[in-house]
Amino acid sequence: MSVNVYERIWMWGAGGLIVLFLAAIGITAVAQAVQPPSHIETINPATLDEHPEFGDPQVVVAEDGRVIVSVVAEMFQFRPDPIEVPVNTPITFRITSADVVHGFQIVGTNANAMAVPGYVSQFTVTFDKAGDYDIACNEYCGMMHHVMVGKITVKGERP
Ligand code: CUA
Repeated sequence: MSVNVYERIWMWGAGGLIVLFLAAIGITAVAQAVQPPSHIETINPATLDEHPEFGDPQVVVAEDGRVIVSVVAEMFQFRPDPIEVPVNTPITFRITSADVVHGFQIVGTNANAMAVPGYVSQFTVTFDKAGDYDIACNEYCGMMHHVMVGKITVKGERP
């Protein structure tokens, strides 16, 4: 079978692109660690009120100085609200939902997580500017989704 030379060029070109794209996926996944999160922590959303951490969600300063913020997202608020944290300090947010899927996006930063009932979402962020930040729920969660807003107050010194 003879294949026209231009057809051959296009075939090799298209094949080369497929190899290039697969290599890009492989390199980012392996070398740059673009992977699903490894932190998987489950929780019973039905008994959140009695949970030692999420029964009374709050900002805790650990003995080693780490600041941990436990957050419950529920229709249609975040608890605690407002959240007060210090500036220039790594803040670990631990977020869960009491009912449906909510979002937890700290407006003006790259901090963004889903609040999923049954799971704890966790990330650490450092605020380099003091001030007030809004928390937006960016997952449609019901009739009052659009008013589900929280506040983070970042203060100049440690609490
Ligand atoms: Cu909570 Cu939208």
